[in-house]
Amino acid sequence: MKKINIDELVRPHILHMKPYSSARLEYEGNDGVFLDANENPYGSVSGGQHNRYPDPLQMQIKEKLAKVEQVREEQIFLGNGSDECIDVLVRAFCEPQKDAILVCPPVFSMYEHVAEAQHIDIVRVLLQPETFQLDMPAIRSKIAQMPNLKIIFICSPNNPTGNLIHADDIEALLQEFSGLVFVDEAYLDFSGQTSWVHRLQEFDNLVVIQTFSKSYGMADARLGILYAQERVVHFMNTIKLPYNVNQYSQELALKALDKISVKDQYVSELTAGRDYLMNELAFIPLVQKVYPSDANYILFRVQDANALYAYLIQHKIIVRNRDSAPLLKGCLRVSVGTEAENQRFISVLKQYSN
Ligand SMILES: Cc1ncc(COP(=O)(O)O)c(C=O)c1O
Repeated sequence: MKKINIDELVRPHILHMKPYSSARLEYEGNDGVFLDANENPYGSVSGGQHNRYPDPLQMQIKEKLAKVEQVREEQIFLGNGSDECIDVLVRAFCEPQKDAILVCPPVFSMYEHVAEAQHIDIVRVLLQPETFQLDMPAIRSKIAQMPNLKIIFICSPNNPTGNLIHADDIEALLQEFSGLVFVDEAYLDFSGQTSWVHRLQEFDNLVVIQTFSKSYGMADARLGILYAQERVVHFMNTIKLPYNVNQYSQELALKALDKISVKDQYVSELTAGRDYLMNELAFIPLVQKVYPSDANYILFRVQDANALYAYLIQHKIIVRNRDSAPLLKGCLRVSVGTEAENQRFISVLKQYSN
């Protein structure tokens, strides 16, 4: 069991900060005369019943998630997308102009984005070329040199390369690093692997995020989940805005959690679509390399990614051009679509090849 004192990691001024006390947290129950939050008791101009503030701690969702993931409700933070979870975590633990985060590009850019906005140092250790695994010696040397390093961000499966990061490496970092090790599992459902959430009891410094935006197909509801030890979640709750997840998103999440088999069905359709795209891409001469994927997207390399990207746009097919990302010269990333969308993409690609 890796023991870390989270109170020593959090930004000192947050340690004793009181959470904003929203009116709705002071009374439990739905019954009563609610004259505490300056709402309009009559109703809503839009029609429907939208006049009351939502539960600031989203307890009904947490109850369900806690059962599914076998964690305590206090180990769960919900955000306006996992983007917000990343933002609140960085703001709780990193002191501007003093602390640093470590990222391993090419990777999801949000970690850098929120750190940059907070004036927090960003240390970049590139993934290994072609395998896109962690460069452990380089990460270890940064850990040794930088006492101000607070969070190491890992994305597994990694966006945009699609591969899982070796579990042994993540475990070694959890053992060796005394700051937080963040594992982004936005695409985990497509990998068939078990979640790091189940290792929370072993590592005080483990933070995991997941999202309703991908396999659940609920990107516009903006709902992300962060799992960590209670003290981490406590400090995040302390600084978050009170009503960060709106009522409709909360209701949608509750419905979705009663229908997890539907998500599993989507996952199996999307992984079948991924297999189809993999097979087809492998036989298109223009495609120099197709990288293996544990996610719902595929990274592939061509001679001239910019030209192909422009051609696809002309045909109203929008993929992600990763040509300018480190290690990804010539690479495009394509999301798995519906069967018809995948076929259309392949047929336009074949036209270009001819
Ligand atoms: C790796 C990764 N993490 C997190 C997110 C953010 O997801 P959301 O804010 O929709 O939960 C994304 C979005 O594309 C992503 O690719």
